[in-house]
Amino acid sequence: MRHLITTKDFNKDEILELFKDTKEFLDEKPRTLLEGKSVTTIFFENSTRTLSSFESAAQRLGAKVLRLDTSRSSLRKGETLYDTAMILDSMSPNAIIVRHAYSGVPHILAKHMHCPVLNGGDGKHAHPTQALLDLFTIWTHFKGKIKDKIILIVGDIKNSRVAASNIELLNRFGLKIILVAPPHFMPHSNLEKSYKLDDKLIDKADIIMSLRTQTERHNKSIYASLKDYANDFCIQSNLIKNKKLILLHPGPVNRNTDISDEMMSDKRTLVLQQVKNGVAIRMAVLKKLILEN
Ligand code: NCD
Repeated sequence: MRHLITTKDFNKDEILELFKDTKEFLDEKPRTLLEGKSVTTIFFENSTRTLSSFESAAQRLGAKVLRLDTSRSSLRKGETLYDTAMILDSMSPNAIIVRHAYSGVPHILAKHMHCPVLNGGDGKHAHPTQALLDLFTIWTHFKGKIKDKIILIVGDIKNSRVAASNIELLNRFGLKIILVAPPHFMPHSNLEKSYKLDDKLIDKADIIMSLRTQTERHNKSIYASLKDYANDFCIQSNLIKNKKLILLHPGPVNRNTDISDEMMSDKRTLVLQQVKNGVAIRMAVLKKLILEN
């Protein structure tokens, strides 16, 4: 049984195949490829875009969606993850999408399930469909010529599962990654690092990926105020000027902390395109895992 727990679960050829389907699915037409199938979503952590993106993707392919209400889930009443997995499995879904604040939960569930498990984000560990949609957005923008493109990943990299998945995937596709963050947000890594965001760096960049400060994953407030952080790392027009590049963000965007209002409405900012691409890539992934398994 194949699952999608981390980006490593798909090889390069498989990802390029997924991109072919993704392009077709961008027409947003309803399909019947997954008619008669059922997809379960179980999100133990808040989400708007990832949950609705997966659910729209499943519905656009003709599948039925069962959303499990985690606020009333028995896990909160002390049920073990193993028992939850067994219960979910006995309902015989064709795929299950899980998000959890703890790293490793999708992997544990996958060991006990008879259907593909898709990771919708686990702790600081991985968020594979987000990285796939980011890569797809970059890949379409540069018409497939992405090798050696320079990407700045800016923000709370250490606590970001989006960064972790993107680092693996973008590296594999030959992009040059530069990590840009204050010391306490910088992970241990062999990649090039910068502790400040300046003109020199912007000049080099083809892509900037800004990340949200993951306050819910900090034990204590590290930056005295987000304003201090924003002064140094917010993506603003006076920094970007008329440089030819694209700006990505997985959302939710903290306006004027991660990206300024002005840059949010700039043509180079592809946040809404990322959301659109997200539904299409999740359709491609669901199709692959449900029909090929
Ligand atoms: C991200 C997440 O939840 O990991 N958002 C998302 O899935 N679109 C990023 C974040 O919360 O900052």
